[in-house]
Amino acid sequence: MHIPSLIERKREGGALSSDDIHALIAAFTCGEMPDYQMSALAMAIYFKGMSTEETAALTHAMLHSGSSLQWPAGSPPRVDKHSTGGIGDKTSLIIAPLLACDGLWVPMISGRGLGITGGTLDKLESIPGFRTQLSEAEIYRVIEAVGCAMIGQTADICPADKKLYALRDVTGTVPSIPLITASILSKKLAEGLDRLVLDVKYGTGAFMKTQSAAQELADSMVRTGNALGVRSSVRLSPMSEPTGEAAGNALEVAEAVRCLKGQGPADLEDIVLDLCAAVANSPREVLKQRLHSGAAWTKFQQMVAAQGGDVAALERMESVHYAPVIQELKADRSGKITGMDARSIGQAVLELGAGRSRASDPVDFVVGVDRMMKVGMDVSAGQVLLRIHARTEAAAATASLLIRQGIQIV
Ligand code: URA
Repeated sequence: MHIPSLIERKREGGALSSDDIHALIAAFTCGEMPDYQMSALAMAIYFKGMSTEETAALTHAMLHSGSSLQWPAGSPPRVDKHSTGGIGDKTSLIIAPLLACDGLWVPMISGRGLGITGGTLDKLESIPGFRTQLSEAEIYRVIEAVGCAMIGQTADICPADKKLYALRDVTGTVPSIPLITASILSKKLAEGLDRLVLDVKYGTGAFMKTQSAAQELADSMVRTGNALGVRSSVRLSPMSEPTGEAAGNALEVAEAVRCLKGQGPADLEDIVLDLCAAVANSPREVLKQRLHSGAAWTKFQQMVAAQGGDVAALERMESVHYAPVIQELKADRSGKITGMDARSIGQAVLELGAGRSRASDPVDFVVGVDRMMKVGMDVSAGQVLLRIHARTEAAAATASLLIRQGIQIV
């Protein structure tokens, strides 16, 4: 393999063969291909793109750069959901147990929050005792016993992605559809999946700002997933206002628990049921019954117990993590709510301490917002639009200013 010729070929818009791509990723992972060559290749891919065949080969090569979960023959179908991330997006906490109630196995590997986007692992870790870092043997045990596990990525999964993402992050090559596709799918496919549903968000609070950009990413991920033998589908979800009524780690777990008991906000339940129906055996109506009958709630409690969490704490998350300051933000006029900007709310929640600006930052489980009114609702002057949970009065006041900028009432 002559690496400079392959970089030049991609720079000129030519196609790389599957063998070329596998050889490049193998050389990069073991350190034979230096970062400067991979950076140049990533930039060439950023400008010239990749065909579905090339993207599938890249995904396959990254997936096989490390280990993946292996399931015995005759196991139930393995299914999962991946979201491109948003504000107040706690759907994973409900989806994993609900799909497990359908006789499916859900080995859900999730990530941590970064920037305004929350992370499933951070939310789960607000449950006292809950362990997200399980060994492979423990993952298999929990899945066999419960049907679902919610875990962090192990060091052995997709090392090529870890290395390549770090490079893309500092070379301006993150926003490339084939590179994003391969990065996301390689990690998800390492779960050994049969079916995958993708929740691609668009809007002010999402990675993809426009519906057309989200559609382009969605198409690429669906084509690539299917090319690699995983039945893949997508739901495009607007992220111009947060999902549900709460944003912040423990506050979102509390809301997920309400949804698992069939008492969740309508928008949250809708997204959950749409995504589950895309990969489940049973139709949406049956899934809804399982949410309202308490079956998914029981399953969630079993999973929390199996991963070391305090099940009794689930129903009192707001008192386990009690914010010293809870401030109401009230409407300054009467009218209809036409905007609850996800970006401003996400930024406020991040600055309250619920998220991370850098990957190494700690997160505060306690802070965030809840009881959020939704776009389309009528409101009277003085009515509470949402509550801010903060460590100090000053932090609450800063969050309040930021959130107000994104609220529109006409
Ligand atoms: N999330 C990922 O895991 N990878 C990307 O490239 C972008 C978002």
